[in-house]
Amino acid sequence: MAADVTELEEIVDGLSGSQKQISPKYFYDERGSQLFDDITQLPEYYLTNTELGIMRDNIAEISELVGKQASLIEFGSGSSLKTRILLEHLSELAAYVPVDISEQHLHASADEIRERFPHIDVQPVVADFTQEFALPMPMVMPIRNVVYFSGSTIGNFEHDMAMKLLRVMHHEAGKGGALLIGVDLQKDPTIIENAYNDSAGVTAEFNLNILQHLNRDYGANFDVSEFEHSANYDPNEGRVVIELVSQSDQRFEIAGAAFDIADGEAILTEYSHKYTLDGFAEMANNAGFVVEKVWTDAEKLFSVQFLTRQ
Ligand code: TRP
Repeated sequence: MAADVTELEEIVDGLSGSQKQISPKYFYDERGSQLFDDITQLPEYYLTNTELGIMRDNIAEISELVGKQASLIEFGSGSSLKTRILLEHLSELAAYVPVDISEQHLHASADEIRERFPHIDVQPVVADFTQEFALPMPMVMPIRNVVYFSGSTIGNFEHDMAMKLLRVMHHEAGKGGALLIGVDLQKDPTIIENAYNDSAGVTAEFNLNILQHLNRDYGANFDVSEFEHSANYDPNEGRVVIELVSQSDQRFEIAGAAFDIADGEAILTEYSHKYTLDGFAEMANNAGFVVEKVWTDAEKLFSVQFLTRQ
């Protein structure tokens, strides 16, 4: 990928404040995407498997609530197992509409879905789903839209942005529409912290890869060996703070700008918010949704929720 001026400005901007930060979107170069796939298979990373189990255990009821001839609008291009379970079980879908900002990624996964489900009308949309976008016109008129947002990705947005995103989903769901969403729950902090500090060190490698990505594709010169992965759960804020901590006083450069970072100073790479059922319901209500159904696993680690428009 060629370094893009707007992206370089965004990166420099994020590193210029009193809290240095790098947007989590830079995690996902080819190596980062591979590492994230590996994370989802780790024994400590309960999120993916728990969500998948909840989907499998309740697919009949989910399918009943979605109803016939719905248009399923997935935020993020989904070739995931969870999407496949839905597509296998939803009856008479009017269309499947994956929405992703990465055109290449989107079309690759749309092709995969078409190959596997030749009878489904797949209508990919290239868009930044944090803002309203136009929906395609499927061949069959949908009875309702159901937005799908899995992986507790909502948790990676801070409160105001999460609210904004819920409002966009409310808009895209339209009249009579619904939202099917995966939401990770607050729980014993040890379980949460272990999910982001696995013993095999894959998460550390994933987090550090963001610096390697900036070195490779954006001309930065981070000494990656002088940073350490850190992930701590803050129970007051209900979120994991994921950072890269400098192991010495050092200087790095990107796009002609130089930055000093002190020993022990951190670069924030991501938050992962965990919700209570009440806390999430309140946010949903404020965005114009009613929580109609919540499914959880036996240990109440994770939830899948069906929300309808008020
Ligand atoms: N959406 C994932 C989550 O919040 C992203 C993630 C998993 C992640 N492990 C990570 C981000 C480690 C940074 C570092 O669970």
